[in-house]
Amino acid sequence: MRAEVDAERGMSSRTIRRIAVLKGGLSAERDVSLVSGQRCSAALRDEGYETVEVDAGVNLSEELSKINPDAVFNSLHGRWGEDGCVQGLLEWMQLPYTHSGVLASALAMDKAAARLSFINAGLPVAEGKVVEARSLLNFHPMDPPYVVKPINEGSSVGVVIVPAGVNSTVGSYDQSYREVLVEKYVPGRELTVTVMGTTALAITDIRTSSWYDYKAKYSQGGSRHVIPADLPSSIRDACMDIAQTAHSSLGCRALSRADFRWDETRGLDGLVLLEVNTQPGMTPTSLSPEQAQFRGTSFSAMCRFLIEDASCDR
Ligand SMILES: Nc1ncnc2c1ncn2[C@@H]1O[C@H](COP(=O)(O)OP(=O)(O)O)[C@@H](O)[C@H]1O
Ligand SMILES: [Mg+2]
Repeated sequence: MRAEVDAERGMSSRTIRRIAVLKGGLSAERDVSLVSGQRCSAALRDEGYETVEVDAGVNLSEELSKINPDAVFNSLHGRWGEDGCVQGLLEWMQLPYTHSGVLASALAMDKAAARLSFINAGLPVAEGKVVEARSLLNFHPMDPPYVVKPINEGSSVGVVIVPAGVNSTVGSYDQSYREVLVEKYVPGRELTVTVMGTTALAITDIRTSSWYDYKAKYSQGGSRHVIPADLPSSIRDACMDIAQTAHSSLGCRALSRADFRWDETRGLDGLVLLEVNTQPGMTPTSLSPEQAQFRGTSFSAMCRFLIEDASCDR
C-alpha cells in the first residue's frame, strides 16, 4: 500500500526511510544531473536515509514500482525532469517528491510563460519577444545587442548572444526549437538568489571571463562566485524581494534560484529577472548549495530539508 496522502497538504503520512533519487534523465543537462544526483544521494545517506539512485529513463514508473520508496528526491534538470513531466508521473503514482509541483515546474521551465507571470506580478524583465527559430535565418528580431534562447532549456544550452553592431543574423538556429525567446542584451553584472522555504538566502555576483555559458557554469575555475555580492542596499533589497516574489508567484516549493542581470549604469531600472530555476544545480560548482552554506546550512542539511518537504500537490 502507498502512503496515505493527507488530503489537504499532500504530505505523506509515511515516515521517510527509503528514498529514490532521480538523476540523469533525457535532457541536454543529463551530465549535470548525474553529478547533482550522486552528490544528493551521498548526502542523504550521511543523514541516515537509505537511497536508491535511479537513472530516469522511459521505464521510470516500472523502476519506481519495484523500489517502492517512501519518497522521491528529484535531482533531474531540464526537460522532462524540471518541467512538470516527471512531477505528473509522481503525482499519478502518489509518491511524495521534492522541489516544485507540476504547475510551478511547467511555468518556470517555459521562459515565455514565466515572463508573463513575472510581468503580472510587477517584476522587471528585459524587453523581449517570442519568434520562430527559422525567422532568425534572415532577420534580426530586434536591434542588436540581443540574446536568443530556447524557451525550455537550461544551463545556457542554446543561448546565443548577438553583439551590437553585427550585421549578420544568428543564421540556422537549432531547428528542433520551433520558437525561441529573444531578449534585449542587458550588459553589466550577473547575479543570482536562492530561495529556500520562502526565504531568500543570499546574492552571489558571478564573475566570468566572457559570459556565463555552460563551460563557465560547470568547469572548475570557469567562474568566480562573490558571496555576498557587494551591491548598493537598494539593489540588494530589490534582488531578495524579487526572488521571493518570483518564487511565490510561480507557486514554487522548497527551493528555487532566480537569475538576474544588473546594468549598474541604470541603477534600479537596470535590474532584470532572467528566470527562475525550480531544480537548481547541486554540483560542487553550483550556486544554491554555496548560498545555503553561506547562511550556515550544510549540503546534507539542505538535502534533508528538501526530502522532509517532499509532498504531492493532490
Ligand atoms: N537578456 C540577457 N542579457 C544578457 N545576458 C543574458 C540575457 N539572457 C540570458 N543571458 C545570459 O545567458 C545566461 C543563461 O540565460 P538564462 O535566461 O539564465 O537561461 P538558462 O540558465 O536556463 O540557460 C545568463 O546567465 C546570462 O549570462
Ligand atoms: Mg539561468
